[in-house]
Amino acid sequence: MSSHETALTRAEESNRALQNQLDPRWYPQFHIAAPAGWINDPNGLCHFDRRYHVFFQHHPASPQWGPMHWGHVTSEDLVTWRREPIALAPSEAYDNDGIWSGSAVVRDGRLEVFYTGNRWRNGVDGDGGLIQSQCRATSADGIHFTKRGVVVPAVEGLDNVRDPKVWWDGERWLMIFGVESADHRGQVWLYASEDLEAWTSQGVLYEDPDPGVYMLECPDLFPLGDRWVLIYGPMTHDRPRGLTRRNGHNVTHLIGDFDGRVFTAQTEPAPLDWGHHYYAPQTMVSPDGRRLMIGWLGEFAKPLASQTADAWSGQLGVPRELSLDENGHLRSRPVAELVGLREHSEDAGAFALGLNEDRVLIDDAGPVEIELEVDLAAGDAERVELRVHDTGAMATTVAYDDLTQTLALDLGSRGLQGRGVRYAPFAGEALALRVFVDQGSVEVFAADGAVSLSSLSFPSAGPRAVALGTVGGAASIRRCVVHRLRSGWEPRS
Ligand code: FRU
Repeated sequence: MSSHETALTRAEESNRALQNQLDPRWYPQFHIAAPAGWINDPNGLCHFDRRYHVFFQHHPASPQWGPMHWGHVTSEDLVTWRREPIALAPSEAYDNDGIWSGSAVVRDGRLEVFYTGNRWRNGVDGDGGLIQSQCRATSADGIHFTKRGVVVPAVEGLDNVRDPKVWWDGERWLMIFGVESADHRGQVWLYASEDLEAWTSQGVLYEDPDPGVYMLECPDLFPLGDRWVLIYGPMTHDRPRGLTRRNGHNVTHLIGDFDGRVFTAQTEPAPLDWGHHYYAPQTMVSPDGRRLMIGWLGEFAKPLASQTADAWSGQLGVPRELSLDENGHLRSRPVAELVGLREHSEDAGAFALGLNEDRVLIDDAGPVEIELEVDLAAGDAERVELRVHDTGAMATTVAYDDLTQTLALDLGSRGLQGRGVRYAPFAGEALALRVFVDQGSVEVFAADGAVSLSSLSFPSAGPRAVALGTVGGAASIRRCVVHRLRSGWEPRS
């Protein structure tokens, strides 16, 4: 057995042991998660051999972040997922302390993945600094990988150099990754290759204009319509500003132009999602040409309830389709395939809610998608609230607030999650929401993907109701449908 095969076997064994401790109370039914243990960023998104492949940062032995592996799931349709064996484990001198984030491309019927091989300078932890090189591995079947070594060596004097995203630009392969420059600026570097093996530097593609951003993670750059979109996670020690950058890790996007060397922004950096937990998204192109995106719902800085007691931590958000609207703004909608999760639907029709009125839609909801349309112009409510995961003791509230013209996702201030509120600016005559409620998360899409808020949500014990309510006035509900969703996990064969 090779050292990599031995490491994979050990990883699977440690994960099986942890699976026995899994508590299902918040475990996702239709979001991607590891069988047990920790996950963060989605990696290597691609379509290969008639299936979608999603890899992810994974610590199989523990619900805490640790030596990173690449976990793996696949799907024919983006809604029914099959668990695959762990794809990559630390095993070589250049990746011994972690297989960090990266991407995948398909060439000549082979799957080629690129990742950051991480090493601790002191051999123990990050305190002494990091040595990060960009590495390659290939697979003929999409499941078993052979490591091919370092393609972009570590840079002398730099610690943070990571998260390669590779794509074919029509003439050559391009790779970008995030860098903390020598003067501590967050940069994206560009490399090019003819054969995916020999890579040459093309210089700095982009630098975050904010000098407080010392590093940026997981960059992705892609064409959309007649523009280019750049996505990344800016790292900063600065305090949050207003509604933005409220989380330990925040993801930003810009729209602009790319001339093959340099990205020129035409917009200011803006959030990609306004919830508590959405980070490190990666995109890919589907066989029918759609730009798809999957992000991570998780948290590095503060302990999560599932992590403390339930032997798992982190999940991936539902797949989204990206587009630019008529004003050139980015939209991220749940992919059309997600309607395939609907099992049966309860249509509450159109109705009015009076002053401070409450209406329970479902007493005990499992995983559901809620479609809600409110005619804001026809009502005078100061707040219209949709409560989910409502156990009486606790609830997660999606609210339109007319005073501040915001859409809120409120995890409350008490109990297991108590992580307060996140707001997205929102104005309009009508409110149209799609809200995906899983066992341990809530994802909100408003105005056809113009606004999204994604957060983990861990309800207290007891039935989980869904309810609608008004504060300070009346509301006119145009449409309200609750779809019960089936599990997205393929039964184990
Ligand atoms: C982002 C990140 C990446 C890194 C990975 C390590 O969440 O910090 O930059 O490759 O996670 O797990």
